[in-house]
Amino acid sequence: MDEQNNDAQTAALRAIDQSVPSVARMYDYYLGGKDNYQVDREASDQLSIAAPGTRALAVNNRRFLQRAVRVLAGEYGIRQFVDHGSGLPTQDNVHQIAQRIDPQSRVVYIDHDPIVLAHGRAILADNEQTTVVNADFRDTDAILGHSDVAKLIDLDQPVAALFLSVLHCIPDSDDPAALVRRVVDRMAPGSFVVISHLVSADPEVRVRLSDFMLGATQGNWGRVREAADVQGYFGDLELLSPGLVEVSTWRPDGTPGPTQETAEWIEFGGVARKL
Ligand SMILES: C[S@@+](CC[C@H](N)C(=O)[O-])C[C@H]1O[C@@H](n2cnc3c(N)ncnc32)[C@H](O)[C@@H]1O
Repeated sequence: MDEQNNDAQTAALRAIDQSVPSVARMYDYYLGGKDNYQVDREASDQLSIAAPGTRALAVNNRRFLQRAVRVLAGEYGIRQFVDHGSGLPTQDNVHQIAQRIDPQSRVVYIDHDPIVLAHGRAILADNEQTTVVNADFRDTDAILGHSDVAKLIDLDQPVAALFLSVLHCIPDSDDPAALVRRVVDRMAPGSFVVISHLVSADPEVRVRLSDFMLGATQGNWGRVREAADVQGYFGDLELLSPGLVEVSTWRPDGTPGPTQETAEWIEFGGVARKL
């Protein structure tokens, strides 16, 4: 790793608050990763009591992300990916899937959690086609204007903008639909948007689990929504078949994920194209 990356990693590690659970680290714990602390494990274990299906849901969401990237790179020729709220690196990250299909594929990971920068920089040190930006993805102009992003992403060519399991971290006051629209407006025709989101048809569950996450993360969260809200985030983009569905049923690849035995909340996802 070069000196600049080393300094950035040290600074990022110092900025990590180990006293409050973080969504990135709780998700890492659910996926079986090691980049989490006691506070994250305790919050996740409590969440699993309130919603026992959460671990299976997280694994199935990650597998949806992997299938969507494989389909976009393999079948639709996408070579540029901007991953909003990318989370901690795990196995088969976006760049590994896309660069297996074409080593020239370019990937920008964006996350506001310093732990993502610390671990992301370490694994990407030798990969010139990929970068991780420590930023709040709500600030579209700053992100798309960031020099590291501009170096890798040509907005005149098709891009896949990924919003996987992140828009429920955004409160209504920050208007997730407008946020997706701002990104779509900047992308060339032939680009894609991939979204997954926690949903429940039960208003009591939506409030209860949202309150749990708001409390656990000390306000660093949005809310559980209804499938119709998520449908709205795609605006007038063309949804690819099979549309917006429970993520494990989106173009299954023959290797089934874990069964979500309880379904307090479920993760809905879809992929849409800008014509
Ligand atoms: C549940 S994880 C999902 C990770 C990955 N997208 C996936 O689906 O496998 C949510 C991630 O979004 C990040 N995040 C939430 N709000 C964000 C924001 N406003 N800006 C940047 N990152 C954000 C969190 O730090 C966390 O890493």
